[in-house]
Order: sequence, then structure tokens, then C-alpha cells
Amino acid sequence: MAKNKSIETLKNRLREIAYFTSISAILHWDQEVHMPKKAIEYRAKTMAEISAIIHQKFTALDHDKLLTNLKNEIPEGKYSDEEESLILECWRDYSLETKLPEDHVRAVSELSSKAHHYWIEARKQSDFSLFLPCLEKTIALQKKTAEYLGYEKSPYDALLDIYEPGMTTEKALVILNDVKDFLVPFLAKIKKSKIKIDSKKLFGKFPIDEQIVFNRFVAEKLGYDLDAGKIDASTHPFTITFHQTDVRITTRYKTEDVLYSLGSTIHETGHALYEQGLIGNDFGTPLGQAISLGIHESQSRMWENNIGKSLEFWKYFYPKLQKAFPVPYKKVPLQEFYSIINKVTPSLIRTEADEVTYNLHIILRFEIEKELIEGTLLAKDAPKVWNEKMKKYFGVTVPNDRLGILQDVHWSGGSFGYFPTYSFGNLYSAQFYAAMLKDIPDLTIRFAKGDFVAAREWLRKKIHVHGKRYTASELVLEVTGEPLSSKYFQDYLTEKYSKIYNLKNK
Ligand code: CO
Repeated sequence: MAKNKSIETLKNRLREIAYFTSISAILHWDQEVHMPKKAIEYRAKTMAEISAIIHQKFTALDHDKLLTNLKNEIPEGKYSDEEESLILECWRDYSLETKLPEDHVRAVSELSSKAHHYWIEARKQSDFSLFLPCLEKTIALQKKTAEYLGYEKSPYDALLDIYEPGMTTEKALVILNDVKDFLVPFLAKIKKSKIKIDSKKLFGKFPIDEQIVFNRFVAEKLGYDLDAGKIDASTHPFTITFHQTDVRITTRYKTEDVLYSLGSTIHETGHALYEQGLIGNDFGTPLGQAISLGIHESQSRMWENNIGKSLEFWKYFYPKLQKAFPVPYKKVPLQEFYSIINKVTPSLIRTEADEVTYNLHIILRFEIEKELIEGTLLAKDAPKVWNEKMKKYFGVTVPNDRLGILQDVHWSGGSFGYFPTYSFGNLYSAQFYAAMLKDIPDLTIRFAKGDFVAAREWLRKKIHVHGKRYTASELVLEVTGEPLSSKYFQDYLTEKYSKIYNLKNK
């Protein structure tokens, strides 16, 4: 049984590395949630040391030997499907870690700290030219990254593949163009609708401690195990996993709007349910890890939008919200509340976008970053293109760079190829949701009664427990019977928003 011994050695080694990854995650969580400001430099050094240890363990010679042997043995057919996935995923992680020369990794990391600083300053002054030199250097380094990693057709393929393994520029183009061709006229129809929705009615004064109680109540009701998790506050909400028994989320609060924190909490709860649904025994190995950013985002989006912005969800929660915050909700009927939380507004800022316009924000960024990496667009011309696309897709005029091209942190950190995963998440989510509705015909009736168990268990069984046993495309095929398509997303939006905006469909 020599083969099992090698697999066991691999698993033990991965677990050992995972303890250090957990330490690094705890330090990161602490930095975002608790750490005093002045500690930033010392913390950065501490985390760099831990990262170096992880990198060393990962690239150690005997690890290389072990993985190479295992990979070479695959064609002999002596490993199970599960073991094969494990080996191939480890090999992929290992390649990503070793294909980039150390001096390149250092250059990227150093530039990203600097670029982040310039981006903040440029955004503050709403002056793109302050950020331009750093952006040009970042793009040059990202192109180099693509060369090191290798690609078949477009250098953008290599970057996309980091975040969404298996996705290519060509595939992304087809699917996102489909979405765009649907969304632009659909949005125009909504803008012409006679239904006008007044969202100011929902603002009020909501003490933070009462918001915390309500957020906890909702998260727990959806199935987030708070004995193996925790909700804190941070500027940018996130989910972080140390182990399946310790999956934490953060949210953010505004005293005038309880739905602001609740939206983030439900979104992050979706991420946390995925992490808590992975199998503890597989901890540290790819079999105990989420498939991709897109699949992860499908879980958060499903709870936030498909479920969390449905009428049936609120049939259960709205009376409780009204009880907790009689002002202003007592005076707003459920149906009107439902329309308000689903109001569509073509807006400048991605993070504030509704379900309909959100993907257009992503498509705009995808088109621009693809051209920047492929070299068909120069960074200096990017703001002009950004503003033109905003006009064309949204009918919105961008008043300045701060509300335009400088709004997102991603490019300053060198994250090219990341944005599309948000859209893939929405598309996966709609497709999974349609499959779930087929399997559980009384699903929404259950929501109205406050029963979220069936939905959660379906997701756990169909998606969470598998870890990386499947790739994203295999999982979609397995769960829904067809490859990823934007059809379900289009159908979902058409049905929901035609009702809200009283649209006539041909
Ligand atoms: Co998310």
C-alpha cells in the first residue's frame, strides 16, 4: 500500500502548512478588526515572516519530489478520483507558488504597497494622473506574471485563471457579452417604467447595539453556527476561516440604515455557510477548500439576493424587523418595502449597485482590464474609455475620477482578472438557485415560514462538502446538468423585475 502512504504524507504536510496559514489569517483578522493603528508596520513584518515560512515549506525540495512522483503516477490509474483531484490541485497550488521568481514576487509586493498609497492620494484629490505611473508599472508587472505563469491565447487568461481556475478570456467574453446584450436594453426599459420607488422612507435612527442583535438573529436563523463563528465590524466586510470550527465574518454599520449592515451580514453569512460546510477532516488540503472565488461568491450572492431579497424571505423577517424598529417600518407595508430594497438605480459606484446594474459595472471593468493587459489600451486613456462606457451602458455621466475609475482598490493591488469572478458568482448563483427550486418545489413557501434548513442542506450536500473534488465547470454540470450559462440569470431578473416595474415583455 505504498500509494496510500504517499497520499498520507502529502496530507500531513498540507495540514502542517495549514496551521501557519491559520496563524497568518488570525493576524490578518486582528489587523482589520482590533489592532491599534500604530502597529501596522510591525504587523506587516510579522506577517511577511509567516508568509516566508509558508513559502519555504511549500517549495521545500522533498515536497517537490513527493508531488512530482504523485503526479507522474496518475496515468498509471492507481489513484481514486478524489486522490487525483487532491494531487492535481496541490500541483496547481505548487506551480503558482514556484513559477514566479522570488525577485518578481518581491517587486509585485513592493509596488502594490506603493501603488496603494498613490491610489488613496489620487482618489482623495480625484486626480488620475497621480496614480497613472504606478498603474503603468503594475500593468507591466502583471504582464510579466502572465508570461511566467504561461497561457495559450491571451496573457489575460493566465491572470483570470489565478482567481477562477479553468476560465479563459474567450469563454468569459462570450458569457459576459450575453449578459451585457441583455442588461443594457433591460435597464433602459426599467428607466422608462412609470413605477417610481421612494427609498428614503426606510431611513431612520437605528442604535448600533440593536442592529447587532438583529444581524445576529438573521445570520443564526439562516444557519450560521455562531459557536463556530463570530460577527465583528470592519471597514470592508469580509469572511475569514481559520478552520471549519472558526469561520468569522465582519459587517459594517450606519446608524441611519439598518439594511446596510444587514445586507453585508447576509452576504458574508453565505460565504461563512460555505466555509462551515466544508469537511473538517479535509482541513488544510484542497479537498477541504472552496473551489474558486466565483463559486464562493455564488454562495454569498444567493443568500444576499436570490433568497435575501425575495418577497418570501421578508414575509418571515419583515414582521420581526418592524417589531425591532417600529420607526420607520411600521408605516411601510411589506410590498412597498420589497420594492424599495429591490429598487434599480443606474449609479456611479459598483459597491452600491443593485442586482440589475451590478454586472454592468463588472463588464465595464473586465473590458478595460483585458485591453490593458493585452496592450490594446494604454493606461493613460483608460479614464476616457471608462467614462464613455458608463454613458453607453448606464446612461450616466461620470463627474470626476474619484467617482469613476479611481473608486476600486483592485488595480492598485495588482488584482487583474479578479473583477469577473463577481459576475461569475451572480451567474452561478442564478443557475444553482434554479436547480434548487426544481429539487425543492415548496422552497419559497418554506422561506415564508422561516425554514431555511432545506436550502442550506441542499447547498451543503450539492456544493459545500465537495471542496475541490470538482472543478468549477464540473460542479456546475454535476449540480445543474448543463455548463454555466447566463440564461438563468436573465430569466431570474426578467421575472422578478417585470413584476416590480410592471414591464411588458414581448
Ligand atoms: Co463576497
